[in-house]
Amino acid sequence: MPAKIIDGKAFAATVRGQVADHVSRLKDDHGITPGLAVVLVGEDPASQVYVRSKGKQTVEVGMKSVEHKLDASTSEADLLKVIDDLNNDPEIHGILVQLPLPKHLDEDLVINSIAPEKDVDGFHISNVGLLGTGQKSMVPCTPLGCLMMLRDHHGSLSGMDAVVIGRSNIVGKPMAQLLLGDSCTVTIAHSRTKDLPDVVRRADIVVAAVGRPEMVPGDWIKPGATVIDVGINRLDAPEKGEGKTRLVGDVDYDSCAAVAGAITPVPGGVGPMTIACLLANTVTACCRANGLPEPDGLTA
Ligand code: GUN
Repeated sequence: MPAKIIDGKAFAATVRGQVADHVSRLKDDHGITPGLAVVLVGEDPASQVYVRSKGKQTVEVGMKSVEHKLDASTSEADLLKVIDDLNNDPEIHGILVQLPLPKHLDEDLVINSIAPEKDVDGFHISNVGLLGTGQKSMVPCTPLGCLMMLRDHHGSLSGMDAVVIGRSNIVGKPMAQLLLGDSCTVTIAHSRTKDLPDVVRRADIVVAAVGRPEMVPGDWIKPGATVIDVGINRLDAPEKGEGKTRLVGDVDYDSCAAVAGAITPVPGGVGPMTIACLLANTVTACCRANGLPEPDGLTA
């Protein structure tokens, strides 16, 4: 039987709808509008695309969107001042500093200067610690989106064998923590893992987050397993015309889809869920800031 295709685009639209409903209730019942501030330093083209998309979707769900676009040469002190002002702005409930930052800025220092309760990326060391100890935290958006799709597909994840390929702070490590929180048996695999194919073959759930195009072939996948592909890699596609490219994930889609029980496509899988979860985190942060109940199903 062919794998079920997990439609992240449709799922993200549902999440955005839930966020929009909650935003309108916050406005109507409490006179509160959630606000998200995005800080972009420099002119990285991919970052500019992300930031534009975030701003547009923030407005579409009825929230306030603020963008700070700073010159690539901005000093650390000036950037920290912008963040401090946002930390103290009562109309801003979420702050995101787009990464990567220019080389002269200390990313850890900058991220840890965001008020943890406004850290909608979940990258602040306090949120990392809270997640690691199973306490209420802000959860990184991409792993949160993966968890939502897995819960939706399986119901309970309890007792399942999960392998996360990749150990980044943004995806791999928090993903592993979330799966552990849902009572999976979790392995984190990485570039030094011995017998990676055998490790992956044991998994009921495979989350691929390495940034290497199509590196997981179908013969590594246990029949019926669920494959979540976090990769977004651009390859040349001369067959589509000169200079054309195509997006591929970290798994070889066709061979994996032939064996898996369910799989996320690229594009249209994990990608759209990331911004939807950012919006969800902003509503959650706003509710927490105002001592109001959090929306159901939009947090870990
Ligand atoms: N750059 C690429 N992905 C992300 C993300 O999830 N958050 C931030 N802040 N920057 C990114």
